Amino acid sequence: MSQQNKALEQVELPGVENIILVASGKGGVGKSTVASNLAITYASQGYQTALLDADLYGPSIPILFGLENQQPGVKKVDEQDIMVPLESYGVRIMSIGFLMNSQDPVIWRGPMASNALTQLLTTTEWGRLDYLIVDMPPGTGDIIITLAQKLRQAMGLVVITPQKLAVSDGLKAANMFLNKKLSIPLLGVVENMSYFVPKKHPDEKYDVFGSGGGNELAAKTQSPLLAQIPLVQDVSESMDQGKNLLESDNGMMKEAFSSLAEAITRQTKIVASQKE
Ligand SMILES: Nc1ncnc2c1ncn2[C@@H]1O[C@H](COP(=O)(O)OP(=O)(O)O)[C@@H](O)[C@H]1O
Ligand SMILES: [Mg+2]
Repeated sequence: MSQQNKALEQVELPGVENIILVASGKGGVGKSTVASNLAITYASQGYQTALLDADLYGPSIPILFGLENQQPGVKKVDEQDIMVPLESYGVRIMSIGFLMNSQDPVIWRGPMASNALTQLLTTTEWGRLDYLIVDMPPGTGDIIITLAQKLRQAMGLVVITPQKLAVSDGLKAANMFLNKKLSIPLLGVVENMSYFVPKKHPDEKYDVFGSGGGNELAAKTQSPLLAQIPLVQDVSESMDQGKNLLESDNGMMKEAFSSLAEAITRQTKIVASQKE
């Protein structure tokens, strides 16, 4: 089979129950932060969880998990090399960043990039998974579409910030899932950096970036607003050092992600029942 035909094929991941594609209209809204902390939360609750960093324009999962200089293991299965994910916080982790030299500018074009992602998906020993969470590249490029088309169990999640101006970006990401050719079920919207709570005044809330964006996008896409994640100073500081929210011991963040995880579990069940 030619490389090209192979890329168009459906990818079967029979041991994987739910695949959650975390997308956003643009970068910097907290897609990787949400994807990682959601994965850590699910793993801490005993779900079999993996995280795939598919953001080849800025793979940040290895940094967020302090795995920059590591490589996945390799083993032979039926004469074929299979990659064994790294593990951190109980999450099985694969990143396109493990396969790229981080010094290299990303000059991959569409087909090359989507072949690389297909390879990551199909030659990784994921094992049985309740949740495979995918940190998608920002925007609505063809890479996302090719990836999404291959995954039967895929469901979408859109991350936006609370400004009204962010709604149109979020809508593009949501429409990418909902368009007729793909029709990937949209689980809902996550509003990140929703409000700021000062450490010294935990009972005060400030809308730093405006408000209402998440609700507006949810209404426009007829999907639920699944969570409003606060802006927490500790989070960006500790995550940049490769520590995660469970270590930063921030109750507020832990609570926000637990309720997001619960809301997603509920939604995946609704989506599954609609498919039957
Ligand atoms: N809820 C939050 N509170 C504090 N900082 C955050 C939060 N979400 C994201 N950040 C910070 O914002 C920056 C961008 O987040 P990131 O997850 O890398 O965005 P994206 O993957 O969408 O480009 C990072 O420095 C991250 O630590
Ligand atoms: Mg990112």
